[in-house]
Amino acid sequence: MKVNIVEKDIKKVKSDFEIILTNSIEKLKDKEILENLGFEAKDESVIMLTEQKKIYVGCEENTYEAVAIAIAVAIRKLKTTKYKAAKIDLDDLDVKALVEGAILGAYKFDKYKSEKKKDKKQELIICTQKLTKDIEKRYEESILIAKAVNKTRDMVNTTPADFYPEIMAEVAKEIAKESDLEIRVEGEKYLEKNGMNAMLSVGRASVHESKLIHLSYKPKNAKKKVVLVGKGLTYDSGGLSLKPADYMVTMKSDKSGASAVLGVMSTVAKLNLPIEIHGIVGAVENMIGGDAYKPDDVLKAKNGKTIEIRNTDAEGRLVLADCLCYAQDEIKDIDYIFDFATLTGACVVGLGEYTTGIMGNNINLKREVVSKALEAGEYASSLPFNRFLKKAIKSEIADICNIANTRYGGSITAGLFLENFIYDDNKQKWVHFDIAGPAYVEKEWGYNPYGASGAGVRMTLNFLKSLAS
Ligand code: BES
Ligand code: ZN
Ligand code: ZN
Repeated sequence: MKVNIVEKDIKKVKSDFEIILTNSIEKLKDKEILENLGFEAKDESVIMLTEQKKIYVGCEENTYEAVAIAIAVAIRKLKTTKYKAAKIDLDDLDVKALVEGAILGAYKFDKYKSEKKKDKKQELIICTQKLTKDIEKRYEESILIAKAVNKTRDMVNTTPADFYPEIMAEVAKEIAKESDLEIRVEGEKYLEKNGMNAMLSVGRASVHESKLIHLSYKPKNAKKKVVLVGKGLTYDSGGLSLKPADYMVTMKSDKSGASAVLGVMSTVAKLNLPIEIHGIVGAVENMIGGDAYKPDDVLKAKNGKTIEIRNTDAEGRLVLADCLCYAQDEIKDIDYIFDFATLTGACVVGLGEYTTGIMGNNINLKREVVSKALEAGEYASSLPFNRFLKKAIKSEIADICNIANTRYGGSITAGLFLENFIYDDNKQKWVHFDIAGPAYVEKEWGYNPYGASGAGVRMTLNFLKSLAS
């Protein structure tokens, strides 16, 4: 899907259709026919009038979400036809909502279909009377952001047979090459030598070598230094604490945190952000076998803390523990350190499938992150730590246990586990994003497709952009 913007009176722009977003049919030229056809101008409703060359879409309010969903609905309608081009009047709409809604809504993952639909090279033309510098910049940024989201979606949707830690490292190398970023990829020898025994143990039963990936973007005169860490479980079978069959399906999506970090890194240079940004990913496969790590093991993480394993399915926090330590050992004077992970089913139970759980010690920072997420079109909500839940991950035989002794508050106790691996200087700079819900949803929702949504990418880029201004 191509999205263009032109400074032209819409009447003078040639196209097969004009898209009209509306909340009422009352004042429309085609009122009568729309009425006869039962079109009600409600969100997510659409009608294509071929003779009139119009696509009418219901859009009940002029917000980012409603407009992005409406344009996605219109583009999907266009995609069912052989027509090439549709135009829309920018008027008082947000160009960001139009561009992102169109590109995100047009996304299709057909890598595994034997008959691929060939790209029809369809196009959306946004028409504006006055193409200001501001609109143009917002248009260009939105194209880059939407492409980054789709890149993340592609990674997450790819099957574990085709996407294992080494492949993730290859993808990271391509990103580094394309954007001229520094890259470092380390294997299991490095993990062993550097005391990253928590991460190393999770991947031990896999035939695929675990990879630690570190991308760095270092522009001159950077205003801030931000570190992004991602959980990259290319598959999570649960390990010896094996997942039930129904719960294992979709666990190719357990690499969503890492994929979001890579998606963000793929576009920071293109967006010209004046911020030093590090993307660190632990790419690991959690499998079973004679060599698997076990419930009852005690593992020592990079910072020397010992962890009692009581469930091998709580593996993401082990990988992140070592990656967070690595990040803080390697990078000094960090301004923000964020981690992204499909960490807990509890987060999905608590917030629903569409919302990211935001955790950390700094209330103001959490508030800022939630606000940037909502502004970017992603749902996020804060989950609060407290001293009593902190006690729930105490261990009798090690420093800490990898699961809590209570059934309740599972996302928060997982977040509190991670907090053990945040150094004192960084306690107020850290935010944990549990994207277990929105990262992968097995039905279409708004402009998001079945499967991977690319959760985390837009909110992070929006936060980074706010540091730049
Ligand atoms: N990858 C899962 C969490 C998950 C669940 C992500 C559903 C996406 C959708 C994680 O590794 C896991 O298995 N967590 C356990 C933790 C438990 C053993 C304490 C869970 O949530 O059940
Ligand atoms: Zn797990
Ligand atoms: Zn997992």
